[in-house]
Amino acid sequence: MIIGSNLLFFENLPSTNTLTADLLKKSRLPEGTIVYTNYQSAGRGYSGNRWDSEESKNLLISVVLFPSFVNPVDQFYISMTVSLGICDFLMRFLTDCSVKWPNDIYVNNDKIAGILIESSVSGDQIEYSVAGIGLNINQEKFSDTIPNPVSLSRLTGRSYDLRACLMQLGTDLDNRYKQLIAGNRLQIKEEYVSKLYRLNEWFEFRDIKGRYTGRILTVADYGRLQIERENGNINEYAFKEIEFIL
Ligand code: BTN
Repeated sequence: MIIGSNLLFFENLPSTNTLTADLLKKSRLPEGTIVYTNYQSAGRGYSGNRWDSEESKNLLISVVLFPSFVNPVDQFYISMTVSLGICDFLMRFLTDCSVKWPNDIYVNNDKIAGILIESSVSGDQIEYSVAGIGLNINQEKFSDTIPNPVSLSRLTGRSYDLRACLMQLGTDLDNRYKQLIAGNRLQIKEEYVSKLYRLNEWFEFRDIKGRYTGRILTVADYGRLQIERENGNINEYAFKEIEFIL
């Protein structure tokens, strides 16, 4: 077991990702260490967004990885691996979940989890990655400012033991990470693509030129999203270059 072999709990802190990165700058934590908390006062999401979570209701974790065997240009594999681990966990309780590219975990049209992977890269080597995960488990009410949140308990009408969820999620992430270590990249990519939200169906998107109808074909090199337009043209997008119209 790598992920979950070492657990570091803090009752509250500003952000598990920030603390984990600070700890790593001072000393080398064992690979697979999970830093987790009941409450973040400054939880961070993508693009400088906040990640707000009611105290003691959800999983707020950061996983320490040393994926030195992954070239920085291929680092989207880490993201795919973590996304699949979360999906494996959720599929124990649900009949379906998907990944809204690049790494939001969705159930139907609602977001149940977010991932923030922050890596330190030196030359052609990833020194460490901190895989931050916010996974909504028992929270029933969300602020109106969050667009489309959902939790496991809202979906199933049950409440869950957070500690048991943490251990299970650790195991599911560990199995996927071992798949990455074993070099099963094709399988990881194929499974990730098969779980993509709105794969192969015509929906509205917005890019720098405006709104259009397109369908997601696959994920290309560097984790870029490949979308076909109605006229047959195919475009590839990096994160932030394309918006889903929900
Ligand atoms: C997103 O969807 O924008 C990513 C959200 C990531 C939130 C998690 S919660 C644990 C970890 N610590 C943070 O400050 N952020 C991540």
